[in-house]
Amino acid sequence: MKIAITGKGGVGKTTLTALLAQVYAERGRDVLVVDSDPSPSLAGALGIPPEVAADLLPISEMDELIEERTGAKPGSSGSFFTLNPRVDDIPERFSVAHEGVRLLEMGSVESGGAGCICPESAMLKTLFTHLLFRKDEVLLLDMYAGVEHLGRATVDFVDTMLIVVEPTRRSLATANQIKQLAADIGLTRLWLVGNRIRDDEDVAFLERERGDIPLLGYLSEDAGVVEADRQGTSAFAVAPSLKRAAGEIADQLDQLALEVS
Ligand SMILES: Nc1ncnc2c1ncn2[C@@H]1O[C@H](COP(=O)(O)OP(=O)(O)OP(=O)(O)O)[C@@H](O)[C@H]1O
Ligand SMILES: [Mg+2]
Repeated sequence: MKIAITGKGGVGKTTLTALLAQVYAERGRDVLVVDSDPSPSLAGALGIPPEVAADLLPISEMDELIEERTGAKPGSSGSFFTLNPRVDDIPERFSVAHEGVRLLEMGSVESGGAGCICPESAMLKTLFTHLLFRKDEVLLLDMYAGVEHLGRATVDFVDTMLIVVEPTRRSLATANQIKQLAADIGLTRLWLVGNRIRDDEDVAFLERERGDIPLLGYLSEDAGVVEADRQGTSAFAVAPSLKRAAGEIADQLDQLALEVS
């Protein structure tokens, strides 16, 4: 399962990514999460202690390594480079593991606009393929807010997209833009996840206004998210209702994965 988590800025992408990662880890799955935000926050959302996260080298600092392994400088699309560089030693050097979740940070690496066939995307693609070879493994990609970066490279990495929405028209408008772009690159497996749900009216609003994107599940508005941040821990650890809701979303995802396999 390779899942991208997208949506408008601030809707809860990182919160959902962290919750799902920890749910899957607790179920004994191998979980790799990738923070593609140039100002990363997933380590915090996972409750990874700062001294552990400090060891994390973002992939954007991998320039020399990319050149060494692919034979081309990052950013040099059009030149010759190897499509399957050696990556087996990279996970150890560029990621940290915490309570069963392995985290990689992209830093400010260009993850590839439309049609980018560049050394860094070859490196990333090989890396993800290398990291994910068993059937029960899960890749969660916490995407940068907005839609511009949603290029062809994305589909090389993911097969499913979750679009986080708040019960607002604005976040649904972004969801629809994301859907159009996803369709352009051939990604059709996408679902909405409603976040910051306060009451039945919020649910009814999303059901009514979601258009033709199906809703996979909901996370409630929960003070535990802010509390976790202040305590330096995860929402998973302090908010049982969010943990339960994320568990139900994971069940749905497993069900969907069974249907296609
Ligand atoms: N279910 C929730 N209940 C309460 N607060 C929440 C919830 N989900 C998110 N928040 C709040 O919204 C803020 C933004 O959440 P989060 O960082 O997960 O969003 P994001 O989509 O990753 O943002 P960005 O676009 O900046 O990456 C959090 O700091 C948190 O305070
Ligand atoms: Mg985020």
